[in-house]
Amino acid sequence: MKVLVIGSGGREHAMAWKLAQSSKVQVVYVAPGNGGTALDARLKNVAITDVKALADFAVAEKIALTVVGPEGPLAAGVVDEFRARGLRVFGPTQAAAQLESSKAFAKDFMQRHGIPTALYATFDDPKAAHAHVDKHGAPIVIKADGLAAGKGVVVAMTLAEAHEAIDWILGAVAGDGKNNRLGVQHNAGVARVVIEEFLQGEEASFIVMCDGKNVLPLATSQDHKRLQDADVGPNTGGMGAYSPAPVVTPNVHATVMHEIILPTIAGMARDGVPFTGFLYAGLMIDDEGAPKTIEFNTRLGDPETQPIMMRLKSDLFDVMMAATDGTLDQVELQWDRRVALGVVMAAGGYPLDPRKGDAITGLPAEQPDAMVFHAGTAPAKGGVVTSGGRVLCVTALGDSAKMAQQRAYEALQGIHFDGMQFRRDIGHRAIKR
Ligand code: AMP
Ligand code: GLY
Repeated sequence: MKVLVIGSGGREHAMAWKLAQSSKVQVVYVAPGNGGTALDARLKNVAITDVKALADFAVAEKIALTVVGPEGPLAAGVVDEFRARGLRVFGPTQAAAQLESSKAFAKDFMQRHGIPTALYATFDDPKAAHAHVDKHGAPIVIKADGLAAGKGVVVAMTLAEAHEAIDWILGAVAGDGKNNRLGVQHNAGVARVVIEEFLQGEEASFIVMCDGKNVLPLATSQDHKRLQDADVGPNTGGMGAYSPAPVVTPNVHATVMHEIILPTIAGMARDGVPFTGFLYAGLMIDDEGAPKTIEFNTRLGDPETQPIMMRLKSDLFDVMMAATDGTLDQVELQWDRRVALGVVMAAGGYPLDPRKGDAITGLPAEQPDAMVFHAGTAPAKGGVVTSGGRVLCVTALGDSAKMAQQRAYEALQGIHFDGMQFRRDIGHRAIKR
């Protein structure tokens, strides 16, 4: 059977790689894909991104199953379009994708359904936003309402930073479409800003699959959002991840399912927007093990997917077919007991202004316990070049977090591209535990 994966990141490379391992899958198309999916003989890139053109392609090629990676096509209604054409697709509808695409929608939803999250207020008037910040003081969190690839958030440790972030998001400074030094994109006066209570604790990524009725949790994971070692520097899309996340003990797991995941799925159904697809709760877990939802994503995480796919032993194609048949209750996922850990290698200048077109050398051959998943890469004469912010995610398995970390850093040793940046401490929290 033929499968289509929509997207071009490391997450999509990992999903396509895993789907291609199924004996039932002849070919996995990746639209538009990247340099890594171009190199793999079992995968085929197709240069389509438009939602209607993707559905045309799926009809013409008799695609048995389509899996959507990123939030962009989900928010653009790709699932609605595919379903209207009778195509099998796994993901949320445009309406359900608002849990991610609009922070204001998500916060209102959580408040209405009693789902633990940070206190917040939403503003479109800069004066009121500034006054709110002055009243509540720092640290405080300032977010652009809308999709910003994890980069529309400023955890302001000082009042000055908070005021600056508000000005950029609400466009009080003349609009130029650029990022400011805090990494906030300038929205030229059309946006809303969400201002949140600062939460303390340890973050974890809790991702489940939902078929509309049944909920199936994936292995837990943890991301590293900040650019630099020791969690400093600007927020990024994620600089590395590992699975499992030891902070999610069996008790915490049960609490998250009971207080966050199940009420969210039930609440969406009650609100008339039943949820199908991957639901990702970004959690802050305090010292007592009480979780709060920082955000929802309506897709798999990137880079969390890379270690999760390395650990998944079940046939992903079978799982996806069950997820689109409404029979996830009959699926039991099998996981490698080892730890998987992925280190993101990012382009120079990322996240503000990533450079492109640098030749990548020294890519190792595929090994059973280490994989180089591509993201911002493009095929070029004689190899691959960089083409985006996060370039590669070198992911490895090991018997402990420490061993997975060692193996991942060993696997990336020979890789080079000019300006490359990567953290040297991915997994530090798991290792400390
Ligand atoms: P988001 O895009 O909402 O996931 O935010 C990106 C990152 O900012 C999160 O992963 C956290 O590290 C941080 N963050 C967001 N909201 C809060 C909050 N209320 N308190 C503390 N940190 C936060
Ligand atoms: N790694 C965070 C995300 O995918 O949003």
